[in-house]
Amino acid sequence: MSRHQALVRAATLCETLSLRVPILMAPMAGACPTSLAIAVANAGGLGGCGALLMQPDAIRNWAADLRANTNGGFQLNLWIPDPPPQRNVAAEDEMRRFLGNWGPEVAREAGDLTPPNFAAQCEAMLEAGPSIISSIMGLYPNHFVARMKSKGIKWFANVTTVSEAKAAEAAGADVIVAQGMEAGGHRGAFDATKAEARMVGLFSLLPAVVDAVKIPVVASGGIADGRGVAAALLLGASGVQIGTAFLRCPEAKIAATWADAIGRAAPEDTVITRAFSGRPGRSLATGYVQASAAPTAPPPAPYPVQRGLTQAMRDAAVRENDIDRLQAWAGQSAGLARSEPAGAVVRRIWEETNAILR
Ligand SMILES: Cc1cc2nc3c(=O)[nH]c(=O)nc-3n(C[C@H](O)[C@H](O)[C@H](O)COP(=O)(O)O)c2cc1C
Repeated sequence: MSRHQALVRAATLCETLSLRVPILMAPMAGACPTSLAIAVANAGGLGGCGALLMQPDAIRNWAADLRANTNGGFQLNLWIPDPPPQRNVAAEDEMRRFLGNWGPEVAREAGDLTPPNFAAQCEAMLEAGPSIISSIMGLYPNHFVARMKSKGIKWFANVTTVSEAKAAEAAGADVIVAQGMEAGGHRGAFDATKAEARMVGLFSLLPAVVDAVKIPVVASGGIADGRGVAAALLLGASGVQIGTAFLRCPEAKIAATWADAIGRAAPEDTVITRAFSGRPGRSLATGYVQASAAPTAPPPAPYPVQRGLTQAMRDAAVRENDIDRLQAWAGQSAGLARSEPAGAVVRRIWEETNAILR
């Protein structure tokens, strides 16, 4: 019996990446412990590391742990940095007062946080030698792309629009990861100022990107079971990248209250908010997120200042397992996520897909 064309496309991607299953664990900064990536990889998918907040040593250690415990490859991922933020002390003071109602008093210096050095993180990624390096929020500079390619590393570029996809292909990306607006976590828009205005759902984005580029496309956003994977493959994807559906797995080790709330969420229970970091992302509509959207609430500071200002509240929320103040990222299909070991999730979703695409 001949295989469905959509499965043939997926099989080609699997062959190129030495995978058994065309399911990529989303690189989730702050929520991608090696335990999760190892479980996904050993079930035949691809493990991922969102290295945004990691120092070079931590990146190297993450990669070494994956190598020691899997046969497979993995992806390392970074955000392309925005220009330094414009500071506004008076506005930050107002935000600090607002946040004081939600957590410990916020020190004035809290907004001064310095992210890890991007160039040093890039060097650590090259040294770690993963099979894939991915980008989000923009494109790697030409000189870095050339070094990546000379080491045989593939570049997966996350995009949120057709024009971003074309720019990524022109810059040398090997694969496009099309992120629909359903996606949990930060929006990958290259231009943060336009992120909310350019929200495209995966059902429209995916076929349009597939038609616009010649390289393979991986679908991401709101995919959480075999129906989603089958639909994505039928719309032209060669594989899928899944985030939220892995967050309830024990290997993800997120706060229990966040994992439980994901399982209870209806699609309309998530919203796009800048309230945690200053960059828009999709989160559960928790108490803090809703209060931040009130007309009387102060506007969030730019990234990464807002991330620094909210740190104390977020840390307290984790200590106290308090969903209302946690940075509770979740995609619109959160309610489909199950509390199962990650390997079982990969196997189940792929079996469901194959049952549909016979
Ligand atoms: C907690 C969390 C953190 C994320 N961090 C990153 C990141 O660091 N880099 C990145 O490229 N994408 C990140 N994403 C977005 C994912 O790559 C992907 O687009 C998204 O998870 C897909 O939607 P889903 O969550 O509905 O599966 C994150 C997503 C979540 C849920």
